[in-house]
Amino acid sequence: MSKTYTITAALPYTNGPIHIGHLAGVYIPADIFARFLRLTGNDVIYICGSDEHGVPITIKAKKEKKTPQEIVDRYHQNIKDSFNEFGISFDNYSRTSSKLHHETASDFFLKLMENNSFEEIISEQFYDEKEKQFLPDRFIIGTCPKCGFEESYGDQCESCGSSHNSNDLIDPKSSISANKPSLKSTKHWYLKLDNFQDFLEKWILKENKGLWKSNVYGQCKSWLDDGLKPRAVTRDLDWGVPVPIKNADGKVLYVWFDAPIGYISSTKEWAKENNKDWKKYWKDDKTQLIHFIGKDNIVFHCIIFPSMLKAHGDFIIPKNVPANEFLNLEGSKISTSKNWAVWLPEYLKDFPDKQDVLRYVLTINAPENKDNDFTWKDFQNRNNGELVAILGNFINRVVVLTKKYYQSSIPTKNKLIDIDKLTLESVKNSVTNIEALLNKFKFRDACAEFMNIARIGNKYLADEEPWKIIKDNPERVKTIIFISLHISSVLAIVSEPFLPFTAKKIKKMLVYGSHKVEWSWENLKNFNFLISENIKINEPELLFSRIEDLEIKNQIDKLNKDN
Ligand code: MF3
Ligand code: ZN
Repeated sequence: MSKTYTITAALPYTNGPIHIGHLAGVYIPADIFARFLRLTGNDVIYICGSDEHGVPITIKAKKEKKTPQEIVDRYHQNIKDSFNEFGISFDNYSRTSSKLHHETASDFFLKLMENNSFEEIISEQFYDEKEKQFLPDRFIIGTCPKCGFEESYGDQCESCGSSHNSNDLIDPKSSISANKPSLKSTKHWYLKLDNFQDFLEKWILKENKGLWKSNVYGQCKSWLDDGLKPRAVTRDLDWGVPVPIKNADGKVLYVWFDAPIGYISSTKEWAKENNKDWKKYWKDDKTQLIHFIGKDNIVFHCIIFPSMLKAHGDFIIPKNVPANEFLNLEGSKISTSKNWAVWLPEYLKDFPDKQDVLRYVLTINAPENKDNDFTWKDFQNRNNGELVAILGNFINRVVVLTKKYYQSSIPTKNKLIDIDKLTLESVKNSVTNIEALLNKFKFRDACAEFMNIARIGNKYLADEEPWKIIKDNPERVKTIIFISLHISSVLAIVSEPFLPFTAKKIKKMLVYGSHKVEWSWENLKNFNFLISENIKINEPELLFSRIEDLEIKNQIDKLNKDN
């Protein structure tokens, strides 16, 4: 039965390009899910956009002597292009500096203000007299009160790992000007999170126990066990959504308050452009809201944003938040500052037609339940040993044989024998498995099962050896090729969520001229959907090509160059 889904992918910060860690953790799994749900006939919107506020962007602007707007304009386009090029099928990709978003976020804040969800608190905060700005915790450095490490951040010491208040630091300094900051009092609005403690405990700890991933559940439990406290949702900054009330000059909404509202404003933008009702996707109880994020975003999507939605009143809350762990690169943490990353624009320069290879490797090796490692060697092995040798090889053999024996016309099958029936049965089982795995957000296993279908096809051809019996038993060969073509058409459909570019190529190969095939999941169960008498298929075309050792060496050298 068709359902409605609102699928969101974390809005990326707009202060740099996208790397493989982002793709593996968030955008590919969400894309597979969205594509799969569309394919199975659901009403789906897949929503994202640029997260354009926050302190790191203002710092970067300062360093480069640019305005924050110039910085986000540059990376918004860069990021949007990368997503496009990798086939990430957002229904809308918006940005939080848009007018519509500012309005939506302001209205949201006002509504919470109206229904008394905030507490106004005046406190003393560090202020940089030289830069004339309040200092966010990350921009205060000093000696850790616990371990004496001299470069501890205001909120956390990277040496001993302890959390503290920036006021606890010994000998604090501004990391912008290196001056000693002064203390200045300032007023902020705090969301009364403690009001939602009971609701969240019931919803997450009881109702979603066993349904949410254990990493997500565990983090939520530890926040809830600590007890929720009011949390500031405004900041003293000049870049962001201005606090929409009088006498709040120089104050903006905290980036983590406005960014998730970006999912809503992006939906509104999409609805406007497509003549749809956005409310169906955010206010209808039957709609399933699913947030795809990385593990560092869990508290914001499971505790704070749901509390905001609840406080507002008429929104649905997420059905699931399938957060991933982190992807490492060649054994070390991906790091922007150390340039230890594979950036998508760079990858595309080196491998301009290998989007699906990266999609495949990042899915089959996704950091689903634990941090995982991307290595170039594994990338090469997966390409040469799986995409080329199994999937590409199978489809190619089938199409080449059809051309050779039947001038590319689909043969008429004869009576099926046991091996045919068993083969078709295992393909069907794989499809059922894939469906179940995707519904459980098990993208790695689903992807492996997809490759398994090509394996089944290869084994079938290898066992039946049509090339050995074409002279003596041509009628049997017709059936073998027919079945193999059927398996190819199944692969054309099943590959779509994982490898959309490849899916397109397979479909093109299997249908000649204007013959129409409906490539829906529904049709996977319908044996004759592709293959009808006298239908022709197209010329064979290679789906994948080998990646040589030298190309891999070049990538590794490139990585090590700056390190
Ligand atoms: N920009 C944040 C990050 O990259 C994610 C924001 S997600 C949203 O970690 F919910 F706030 F939009
Ligand atoms: Zn310390």
